[in-house]
Amino acid sequence: MTSLNRRSFLKAAGVAAAGSGLHMLAQAPQQAGQTVSPNDHIQIALIGAGGQGQGDTKNAVQVPGVKLVAVADCYDGRLAHSKELWGSDVFTTRDYREVLARKDIDAVIIATPDHWHKQAAVDSMKAGKDVYCEKPMIHLYSDGPEIIATANSTKRIIQIGSQRVSSIVYAKAKELLASGAIGKLNMVSAHWDRNSAIGAWDYTVPLDASPETCDWPRFLGTAPKIPFNAEQFFQWRKWKAYGSGVAGDLFVHLFSGTHFITNSLGPTRAMATGGLRFWKDGRNVPDVMVALFDYEEGFNLSLRVNFVNGGSESEGLLFTGSEGTIEIAGNSVTVNRVPREKEPGYTVSTFTEAMQKRYLDQYREKYPIEHPVGPPPVGVERYVAPKGYSDSYDHFHNFFNSVRSRKPVVEDAEFGFRAAGAALLSNLSMEKEKIVQWNPQAMKLA
Ligand SMILES: NC(=O)c1ccc[n+]([C@@H]2O[C@H](COP(=O)([O-])OP(=O)(O)OC[C@H]3O[C@@H](n4cnc5c(N)ncnc54)[C@H](O)[C@@H]3O)[C@@H](O)[C@H]2O)c1
Repeated sequence: MTSLNRRSFLKAAGVAAAGSGLHMLAQAPQQAGQTVSPNDHIQIALIGAGGQGQGDTKNAVQVPGVKLVAVADCYDGRLAHSKELWGSDVFTTRDYREVLARKDIDAVIIATPDHWHKQAAVDSMKAGKDVYCEKPMIHLYSDGPEIIATANSTKRIIQIGSQRVSSIVYAKAKELLASGAIGKLNMVSAHWDRNSAIGAWDYTVPLDASPETCDWPRFLGTAPKIPFNAEQFFQWRKWKAYGSGVAGDLFVHLFSGTHFITNSLGPTRAMATGGLRFWKDGRNVPDVMVALFDYEEGFNLSLRVNFVNGGSESEGLLFTGSEGTIEIAGNSVTVNRVPREKEPGYTVSTFTEAMQKRYLDQYREKYPIEHPVGPPPVGVERYVAPKGYSDSYDHFHNFFNSVRSRKPVVEDAEFGFRAAGAALLSNLSMEKEKIVQWNPQAMKLA
């Protein structure tokens, strides 16, 4: 999530103090200084030490009582950097099974490319480890039931890594919607626009990338066997064999946020279109995608990702109700309450003067002019997260709380499947060039 820059944050905080509809969100109470007994000490391992894996681990080890002891990755440079980051005594290997065989590891973070999520999660739970698995939970629809069944049979904790589910900003939006602040929800529109090479997944390939430094067969796993390809190794999102395009990478976050805020299980129908408009570099996934979804709760969702946005980069969700809107942008949520008119109004000016008078007399009898008492309805209110707020930290905090208490996580495998399953409907619809159906209760394609 993009954070507010310092200037805009101070501006927001300052106006809040002046009391004009801007408020600072309270940091979750769980973050206040906590003491953890030695028995609560949790030892973790990282499987997949790339960009997100290293970021996740930095957050995870900030949670009191959590220690990283092992790292598995397929590129030697990332194993070496893991020792630079977390100490030379951290055990490193190319083969995650060596990590899972260790008795001193309680939980693992899985941050491999998507096509490894299911196998790594299932293997980890079967080895007795609790799992924090990055989004999207699935690469194939068949991954979902297998992960859920393994979580149930092994009684392991598994949390999926859509950190927005633990965000105080999203919690506020959820509370506002539930309180009826915008009346009846009828539409959610969300977008994620980018306009840069890195935004379009052109991540840097290290200068020493080779079959010697990269464990290519292990990286491929169940993907089609092709000769070593450094681009595919380091920029895997651009190929369907390892990722799921913008749907699996970004729509899934928008689904997690929408489902969390609306308490919905997921859409029933989807249609999507898009194409590869600009980044024609050999990738086989679109860089522009628009998709529409029906929800049984009586609202529609429209999603857009545009990697060729000609200017600004932004991410946001807008919830539109019968009496206003709730908008999430960066680390803030804004509610704009627009109470519905109490009377329908009239369009009589084209009628004869006699008809206008007759109509208005009757109208005023039915809708007498109201003399409002009390203050006018509240208009715009904005809630801003404190400076430096990290939903990723909160998501790990919640995960480790569940690891300790064995209580349910905030984002379990069913939630993860419902978010990723819904997101992947977009690819399916685009591929088949038709509307596709999904049963969100049963989590099955219909
Ligand atoms: N929650 C978020 O906001 C967020 C943000 C970025 C990425 N992600 C997710 O995190 C995951 C990783 O993305 P990334 O950007 O860090 O990718 P990355 O390419 O930077 O890192 C992936 C790492 O996994 C390693 N790997 C591949 N196969 C492996 C295997 N079998 N065993 C061990 N390691 C293996 C690779 O060598 C690589 O270093 C993806 O699923 C992505 O969707 C989530």
